[in-house]
Amino acid sequence: MSIVYTSESRTFTLSGGNTSYVLHIDDMGNLLGIYWGSRIPDGALKHDPAPYFSISSDEFYTTHTPWEIPTPGRGYYSDASLVVVNAGGDDTADLKYVSHTITPGKPGLEGLPATYTEEDGEAQTLTIKLHDDLTGITVEALYTMFEQSGALARSLRVVNEGSDTVSIEKIMSASTLLRGADWDIVHLKGAWARERNVIRNPLGEAEYALGSRRGASSQEENPFIALCEKSADEFKGEVYAMSLIYSGSFLATADVDNRENSRLSIGLNPDVFGWMLKPGESFQSPESVQVYSADGFNGMSQIYHTLYRKRLARGVWRDMVRPILINNWEGTYFDFNEEKILEIAKSAKELGIELFVLDDGWFGKRNIDNCSLGDWYCNMEKLPNGISGLSDRIHSMGMMFGLWFEPEMISPDSDLYRAHPDWCLHIEGRSRSEARWQLTLDMGREDVQEYLIDVLTREMRNGKLDYVKWDMNRNMAEAFSVMLEPECRFETQHRYILGLYRVLDTLVERFPNILFECCASGGGRFDPGMTYYMPQTWTSDDTDAVERLYIQYGTSFVYPASTMGAHVSAVPNHQTGRMTSMRMRGDVAIGGNFGFELDLSKMSEEDTKTARELVEQVKGIREITQKGTFTRLVSPFNGKQVAAWQFISEDESEALLCFYRILGKPNTAPDIVRMKGLDPNAYYTDDEGNIWSGAVLMGHGMWFTTRGDYQSKIVHLKKTEKA
Ligand code: DGJ
Repeated sequence: MSIVYTSESRTFTLSGGNTSYVLHIDDMGNLLGIYWGSRIPDGALKHDPAPYFSISSDEFYTTHTPWEIPTPGRGYYSDASLVVVNAGGDDTADLKYVSHTITPGKPGLEGLPATYTEEDGEAQTLTIKLHDDLTGITVEALYTMFEQSGALARSLRVVNEGSDTVSIEKIMSASTLLRGADWDIVHLKGAWARERNVIRNPLGEAEYALGSRRGASSQEENPFIALCEKSADEFKGEVYAMSLIYSGSFLATADVDNRENSRLSIGLNPDVFGWMLKPGESFQSPESVQVYSADGFNGMSQIYHTLYRKRLARGVWRDMVRPILINNWEGTYFDFNEEKILEIAKSAKELGIELFVLDDGWFGKRNIDNCSLGDWYCNMEKLPNGISGLSDRIHSMGMMFGLWFEPEMISPDSDLYRAHPDWCLHIEGRSRSEARWQLTLDMGREDVQEYLIDVLTREMRNGKLDYVKWDMNRNMAEAFSVMLEPECRFETQHRYILGLYRVLDTLVERFPNILFECCASGGGRFDPGMTYYMPQTWTSDDTDAVERLYIQYGTSFVYPASTMGAHVSAVPNHQTGRMTSMRMRGDVAIGGNFGFELDLSKMSEEDTKTARELVEQVKGIREITQKGTFTRLVSPFNGKQVAAWQFISEDESEALLCFYRILGKPNTAPDIVRMKGLDPNAYYTDDEGNIWSGAVLMGHGMWFTTRGDYQSKIVHLKKTEKA
């Protein structure tokens, strides 16, 4: 059983995989979090006096108490996780245990993306009900322990059972006190075209806060935070991580107190959030997923990968290998017509590509990015047979057809804006801040949601679409909806995300066979919230092979390869100006959902030959890359100009070793890469017929001799009888 209640000690032991999480209800009915770490027997830990050991009982309400849901105002001075201002004007809440239930499986969260179970035995859910007598606030704390992996999904639901409206000012989905202060902190920081760099710093005796206020999870930070032992690396050492299933503004903090306790939290960003909760109403926080690993960062990532691939992503595409695609964006930008598109499609078909994606520029009068967002009807000058006619032609070539949209946006120069100038986020009396000449629709409005559902349904049907790229190219400004009363305007950002989720849920359900790919100027919303609706995301607008090594390496900390869109583009690369070979570009893109993004009809004969080989190769290995176990082996962030990772197939009969040398070096030994997780007693053949012992590949490693910059090698290993 994953969750056990021990009545003598009033403890809940939640165990799964190699981890346990223990909660305790003290004599006064307070809910305390007393343990998170390696697995311990059920009920074995009864109480943890460590944080407030020397404190006399009348000083009990101190900042050192391991509150599970710390609230301010009663002697707790660290980061509160729930701040609710009541009718009395104070933000104090005295939450006391009322009851609990332990149920099989996992309930969904209303209006929000969340992990799920397919069979009850996969997980158990503990719901603890707490109540504040003075205000009538009830909190339901939800904990789902996944039996096999030990991933712990958490969220809070606040119900106003009082008679006055209260204001939720802050709500963290998870907050946990860890013993010790000697941690390193790890997070994924970036920028447009430089997403998800792995940042590791000593936590020190301080508070570390990271997040987004942009209305999107963002390129700048990812909704993920981890603490690890100083000695932890990719393969060993303890790691404690939290990831938030949410696509909007978030906050993650790590806070060290003066008794060497560290609190790790993640949730909605209170700087841009507020919620007025009337009597009888409830508020559901997003879900956080926390993962403990004793096997370093790869151990952590593998738990996230399995959960997010199999029990967060949904729909028919979840378990199907993804088609190899050609996207015309970097090939043509806005400069195309039907003839050009068909020419690229023909070349794509000849290479064995399976899906054609028409990107930005097919609608309204959009020949440049300063107009037409919102006018989702075909530009018949460019495409005289309409989207439907083009779709028929692509389909008759034997390829699938996909289309780009940026539904959440509106150009001031658009028919939609002329008809509905009030539909965008704005503040009356102030100018509207444009970015890329566009404004953001107020997705919290029901009329906007209905309009988008109708228009997109029409276009998806009319275009007989097999694939949709859902883009979003700016962050919010003036995010205070005019539809809301002034005291509710801090609800705007969260209402936007809920509205977006509603639109996505409706469309995904209506078009179960469409493969949706999330995009936000590249990886600006690469988050678990989006994975629930769209099983893949365009990883970055940076398609340079070298840059992609860093981006894909960092992204893999939380997200499986099956979520990462990875394309081969033209050289000199459009973002960096770098020249790399078609082989190197392909070998990097193999690490994600493979595609091309260039004018195939203009490629040299040699590149065409390599591209054809790549397509063939990807078809032979994508079961492994999209469903296998991924392990990072050598980090490009260590400055040694080498990166390596591997995949092992689900049935463990095949493996892929992916090696990349960035800049060449003279007079050095070959690079040796040691593999992980192979069968030490088995033998494997490589593509050249060499036979390798699994034990040798892991103990000694495989060696690579390269000459020159930007070299790569993919070795496909298959289990074999000993020679
Ligand atoms: C940003 C995306 O990341 C690109 O791939 C492309 O779709 C452009 N938007 C189109 O405007």
